[in-house]
Amino acid sequence: MSVILGIDIGGSGIKGAPVDTATGKLLEERHRIPTPEGAHPDAVKDVVAELAKHFGTTGPIGVTFPGIVQHGRTLSAANVDKDWIGLDADALFTKATGQDVYLINDADAAGLAEARFGAGAGVDGVVLVLTFGTGIGSALIHNGVLVPNTELGHLWLRDKEAEGWASDRARERDDLNWKQWSKRVSTYLQHLELLFSPDLFIIGGGVSKKADKWQDHIKLERSKLVPAKLLNEAGIVGAAMLAQESQNDSGEKKPVASKAAPKAESKAGKKK
Ligand code: BGC
Repeated sequence: MSVILGIDIGGSGIKGAPVDTATGKLLEERHRIPTPEGAHPDAVKDVVAELAKHFGTTGPIGVTFPGIVQHGRTLSAANVDKDWIGLDADALFTKATGQDVYLINDADAAGLAEARFGAGAGVDGVVLVLTFGTGIGSALIHNGVLVPNTELGHLWLRDKEAEGWASDRARERDDLNWKQWSKRVSTYLQHLELLFSPDLFIIGGGVSKKADKWQDHIKLERSKLVPAKLLNEAGIVGAAMLAQESQNDSGEKKPVASKAAPKAESKAGKKK
């Protein structure tokens, strides 16, 4: 059994738990600490270190971030402090915890976990996981393999950014009932259907536990849609899965897409 601490950084709470990465089960109760006001990197780093101390696990830690994560750096900050942009967040958390940290986008983590252990388990083909909350997160998975950082919440639709128009926050802000909100979501999903032809849409985020209110109102042309199953555990589980899969047999960091910079091909070695 491989036990890895997963930590999920969200807009209102930072949550963690040790995960059995073979089964996707949490081995202890989730511990949640409110996200510090403004979600500045220094304050968030202290909470991540506190969670690591709380559980006392040794070994690698998987951490999610609600923005683009590439080569260990955080590259966007739609709903958190702008100081995250361009930051080597991997180094920040590694120093703060004294353990190897693996960073992943929050929706990508949720997507990996749903595809392996949740609503997408056993589904072949293209699975598109979308999380509806403050923003809209996306994870594109083909036969279990993730294409990271798709950021489909920032797709422009009718002169608007999708997440500003169809997120759960937009539903609350515009005082929409579930049917009205589902109409916006259907427009958005139909566009994604045209672009990606997913075999399955999985709808996660806070709205997944209220599926009875919206599911029947969603209209799609040809794809199946189901609510996420892992609810608020998906990010934690996916973060731990990434950390597990990013090590080699001796527990060292493997160069993976979201971690290591691609090697530039040397001109000298290039065959004509
Ligand atoms: C961010 C994504 C994130 C999503 C959900 C969006 O605003 O750009 O990276 O996955 O919110 O948190």
